[in-house]
Amino acid sequence: MAFTIAIDGPAAAGKGTLSKAVAAHFGYAHLDTGLLYRAVGARTLQGAEPIAAAQALQAEDLEADNLRTPDVAQAASKVAVIPEVRAALVAFQQAFARRDGGAVLDGRDIGTVICPDAEVKLFVTASAEVRATRRHKELAEKGGTQSYEAVLQDVIERDKRDSERATAPLKPAEDAVQIDTSDLSIEAAIAAAIAAIEARR
Ligand code: CDP
Ligand code: CDP
Repeated sequence: MAFTIAIDGPAAAGKGTLSKAVAAHFGYAHLDTGLLYRAVGARTLQGAEPIAAAQALQAEDLEADNLRTPDVAQAASKVAVIPEVRAALVAFQQAFARRDGGAVLDGRDIGTVICPDAEVKLFVTASAEVRATRRHKELAEKGGTQSYEAVLQDVIERDKRDSERATAPLKPAEDAVQIDTSDLSIEAAIAAAIAAIEARR
């Protein structure tokens, strides 16, 4: 039986961390939909045309190992404003969501556009400073040399572009449970997410 959990929120809010933990806890499959836009963005940095790149995207493209860089994140949010790019990625996400055995999808528009009938919707937030601090630490651990200020700027710029675009903007679904992780440890955030999901299962 299908059971869909939609997890949305701004950049580096902890969506991926929560999604992986929730998927492991319930034995569901997980799709990080940001990777779809990152894969298209990465192609445009190599000179590809965004709509053609989105239409040609293959599942294995999501496994490329250069997708987590700040440059690719910026390119992703630029292609993500293009309606035809978003349209090309809908069917894959919806098929994943309705697979047997349960699915967790995280992104920006999962609860609002991709899976408006998801059984559970979470909207994960934290202050921009907390999110930038976490992302800065994560990038530094991977050898990145970006300053905290540059990471904060990236987060603020992407949130603005993601929230203000006309097609599928970042915003909580009306029936989403909001989880502010600013003052929560990872363990506490996971516990809050699992409790919200248990309440609706
Ligand atoms: O997927 P999203 O960009 O929303 O965030 P993430 O990649 O799950 O989390 C960004 C960073 O914040 C990771 O390094 C997490 O370990 C960290 N994090 C945290 O410190 N506290 C939380 N409650 C959630 C995530
Ligand atoms: O990990 P982080 O939260 O920093 O970014 P991501 O989830 O990998 O998403 C990268 C970019 O893809 C976002 O800034 C959005 O512009 C776009 N995106 C989107 O438009 N819709 C989604 N469902 C997921 C990502």
